[in-house]
Amino acid sequence: MGIFKKNRTERNLPRHIAIIMDGNGRWAKKRALPRTAGHLVGSKKFKEIAKYCNKIGIQYLTVYAFSTENWRRPKEEVDTIMDLFRDYLKDTYDIRNENIRVRFLGDRKGMPDDLVELMNAAEQDSKDCTGLTVFIAVNYGGRDELAHAVRDIVNSGISAQEITEDTISAHLYAPDCPDPELIIRPSGEYRLSNFLIWQAAYSEFWYSDVLWPDFSTKDLEKAIDDFNRRNRRFGGV
Ligand code: IPE
Ligand code: IPE
Ligand code: MG
Repeated sequence: MGIFKKNRTERNLPRHIAIIMDGNGRWAKKRALPRTAGHLVGSKKFKEIAKYCNKIGIQYLTVYAFSTENWRRPKEEVDTIMDLFRDYLKDTYDIRNENIRVRFLGDRKGMPDDLVELMNAAEQDSKDCTGLTVFIAVNYGGRDELAHAVRDIVNSGISAQEITEDTISAHLYAPDCPDPELIIRPSGEYRLSNFLIWQAAYSEFWYSDVLWPDFSTKDLEKAIDDFNRRNRRFGGV
């Protein structure tokens, strides 16, 4: 058995990988294309990476698709991103065929009504899929998620003394999902931009200058290999 095969079988796969899909606009600008062209290629890239994660046996993939702050962008760009999302949700056959389960993180109340219906339908249609679970973070903000959790906790009537870290985790958008072991951000930015701020407490970060539409399965493999070389101490020795 070659070294490559040995590495692949013995390595430790993160159970949950999260990706900040950034750099679509710059990718388009480099090619003198409208920013929206970058979003189109970026959305195709998402499908390719999700299929690959499923193939290699990752259990959870969370992708940051649209933040609570991204509404500040020009209307035309926001509309295009929502249209791409709509196209993706109308065609979930492909995803179900791959045995991928789709779920969403974020505030649905802020989303267009027809999209909320499509999101609910996609979750329902794929709920029995047993392969990868992909969480798409849309109209998602980590602070918004925490504010939402605090409101729910207060409404639950629990006493202040009873509130623990687990109480907060249990009121997040996906309480049943483990925290991501690995968070990937392409595009040369070194920040979280309000992504999974609670869940990222002990995540390993992996950055790359590659822009999201150029991100490849090789980059993902490199991130996983680097993750395998990290020494995670969780505050211990
Ligand atoms: C990420 O790419 C997609 C969204 C935020 C919706 P960007 O659109 O942020 O691309 P850059 O960062 O401007 O290159
Ligand atoms: C984060 O990227 C949001 C998504 C990738 C969806 P941004 O491009 O919005 O982040 P900033 O503005 O560079 O921090
Ligand atoms: Mg960006």
